[in-house]
Amino acid sequence: MTQRPRLSVIGTGYLGATHAVCMVELGYDVIGLDVDEAKIESLRAGKIPFFEPGLPELLGKHIDSGRLRFTTDYAEVAEFADVHFVCVGTPQKKGQYAADLTYVDAAFRSLAAHLTRRALVVGKSTVPAGTAARLAKLLADEAPNKEVELAWNPEFLREGFAVEDTLRPDRLVFGVRSEWAEQTIRTAFEPVIATGTPVIVTDYATAELVKVAANSFLATKISFINAMAEVCEATGADVTQLADAIGHDARIGRRFLNAGLGFGGGCLPKDIRAFIARAGELGVDQAVSFLRDVDEINLRRRARTVELGLDLLDGSYRGTKVAVLGAAFKPDSDDVRDSPALDVAAAVGRRGATVQVYDPEANASAARVHPELTYAASLDDALRGVDLVMLLTEWQVFRAMDPVTVGSLVAQRNLVDGRNVLVPSQWRDAGWHYRALGRP
Ligand code: UGA
Repeated sequence: MTQRPRLSVIGTGYLGATHAVCMVELGYDVIGLDVDEAKIESLRAGKIPFFEPGLPELLGKHIDSGRLRFTTDYAEVAEFADVHFVCVGTPQKKGQYAADLTYVDAAFRSLAAHLTRRALVVGKSTVPAGTAARLAKLLADEAPNKEVELAWNPEFLREGFAVEDTLRPDRLVFGVRSEWAEQTIRTAFEPVIATGTPVIVTDYATAELVKVAANSFLATKISFINAMAEVCEATGADVTQLADAIGHDARIGRRFLNAGLGFGGGCLPKDIRAFIARAGELGVDQAVSFLRDVDEINLRRRARTVELGLDLLDGSYRGTKVAVLGAAFKPDSDDVRDSPALDVAAAVGRRGATVQVYDPEANASAARVHPELTYAASLDDALRGVDLVMLLTEWQVFRAMDPVTVGSLVAQRNLVDGRNVLVPSQWRDAGWHYRALGRP
């Protein structure tokens, strides 16, 4: 076995915190860095500052071992590690489609200044094609050690499955320019590679594009089935059966064909927009113009969900009470970035309803973005006395609801199933007016 490199992880958000903790689990010594003191304090105290199943337990297991440390000091990180993973965010620029690279640039610049010994810097952030080449030049210009190199290693983890996806990824992609960089990054993933994980070694641009292409494909798949849902609504067909039927064709596959309120979160929406912007700069905007439709279909589902509720309330939300079940952009997460559920809740509130939101994990993060809505302490509290129930994030606790029990809490039995997760006949038999997206 080759000697294990010591690792640093720069940026301890969803991606970085998970990566740092999982690399210790895989046997490496790791130092995590963030410029946010509060985040670092929380991690040092063994507390993950967001909800991710399995991660708090792993952090707890490793924090006392001395093999996982956290700092805000770039000099300490540069001194300690042989391989540096840069995991900072690339959010959408305000009012534009393009990605904001401020954090990536700042992280590379701060790290480079301290790199006096040979190291491999590995970019994991999702970036527009061409960024890695620019950052390689930045390192060459600004790192005191002239043997410092860059690799690009996109990340494909899903929130809610972050630990599993990091320990057992579908594939590893390494964008490199030298044999040394390839060998070095291989040593940083040795236990993962040893289990037979496919490795694709390629150039920077391909590695960057793999990530945006994958997310664009996933977004397109969701919008495809949601477009079919629109057609189903016009014809009386059932999109869930349609998805099951086409999904049996292995070339199509059933995963990511769940029609409903559509995609949100910190990745798919901003990644397709950043891709549209970058393709425009590269003069190939036509090649990805379909992604504008993907985005529009996705946003139309939110408007349609508001309309379904309106139909059930005879044309007006004014003066009504509405329970919104779910605020996170998907279950098993407390992330409300571009959350379809929260978007619909806010729209219903603007139309004059009193909205009682309940999410098992995301009430607090939702309240920071939409303080004007009411947040219920329990599912029962959210349901009590409402004229309409909107199920917008498919947490297991909502899927398991009993129509009769819920019926005894509400004022009127009106239900919008925004994620197609309930059995319509069960609710209709219990006296509910049930409406869903793409389903009669
Ligand atoms: C997504 C990708 O799935 C990851 O592979 C990628 O690494 C990540 O973005 C990223 O770029 O960091 P994530 O945002 O955690 O992961 O969430 P997904 O599970 O992809 O779900 C995204 C959205 O699509 C959610 O709002 C979900 O409700 C929605 N969705 C998903 C549907 O509406 N229908 C489906 O069939 C599947």
